[in-house]
Amino acid sequence: MRQTTIDLRSLPKAELHCHLEGTVRPGTVADLALAHGVRLPVVEPTDLYAYTSLADFLAAFGVVCSVLRTPADFHRIAYEACQDAAAAGIRYREMFFSPGFHLGRGVELSTVWDGMIAGLADGEADTGVVTRVILDIDKPAGLGPAMALLEVAKGLDRDWLLGVGGDSTERGVDHRAFAPFVAAARKAGLRTSFHCGEDGPAANIAAMVDAGVDRIDHGTHLLDDADLTRRVIDEGIPLTSCPTSNVELDVVPELATHPFGRFRELGVPVSLNSDDPAFFQFDLADEYERVADAFDYGDDDMIDIALAGVAQSWLPADERADLATEIRSFVAVGV
Ligand code: HPA
Ligand code: ZN
Repeated sequence: MRQTTIDLRSLPKAELHCHLEGTVRPGTVADLALAHGVRLPVVEPTDLYAYTSLADFLAAFGVVCSVLRTPADFHRIAYEACQDAAAAGIRYREMFFSPGFHLGRGVELSTVWDGMIAGLADGEADTGVVTRVILDIDKPAGLGPAMALLEVAKGLDRDWLLGVGGDSTERGVDHRAFAPFVAAARKAGLRTSFHCGEDGPAANIAAMVDAGVDRIDHGTHLLDDADLTRRVIDEGIPLTSCPTSNVELDVVPELATHPFGRFRELGVPVSLNSDDPAFFQFDLADEYERVADAFDYGDDDMIDIALAGVAQSWLPADERADLATEIRSFVAVGV
């Protein structure tokens, strides 16, 4: 049972693992499909968001991407992402976008970037939600396309772009192959964060830790390797955990057995995130509530979790301190 008394929806939060394309509202998918003459494989747009594995999920992700064509489309989804983030109490978000899904369909990176950044700027002006972005390469495409995209990423506005990462399936992907990508990104002054150990083994996490990534996305299977767990704790490498996503995609059978609780007990730096809120119809506030229920957490735990998201973010130190203060004062005034 949940022990909390604070309003977890209004509690100021930072989110470090959320995909732009995973925030697209079902109604927006339907509107854009109509506008661009795209036939959806479902009658009800919400039916797109039903799956039981990462592979099914990625197929739906591809369908959503297929309706995104113009800068105005990317503006709309980025703006709506800010509105929905505000409704979940998110003050600051580091958000992935996945150009591989768009470039492959002939949509230029400038179309994605210009629309997305304008939407995030307008969204920030109207909602107060601050977003910075991380460019994710498509891991199954391999090192060559990743290095080519990195060259382009180097030229993007660093006021918006914090770093680069990699997502999509782990099956059949050699994570060690991305070590040169991580090294080159770091040399270019970009942060790095990679999806691994989600539906793949701890060995994939070890590969990315060896490569020198700044953060691990998911890392759900970390505890299968005790030495690696020790190393992640000792080196303070944060995990961006998404428990509901892991349950929905059948990576973990139920929330109560998700390693999130154990990570915290062991001192693994970990944040709580929604991954793809539209796809799971479950935003970050829902995630906080569900985790509080599953692990019998009280107010102190939930404040700790909110503060961890801020501490593990790539915000400048003074802005991290300001957001942490906002969280503490929210609690102090007993909202
Ligand atoms: N894992 C892999 N690929 C993804 C994810 C994820 O969590 N979300 C969007 N693309
Ligand atoms: Zn993800």
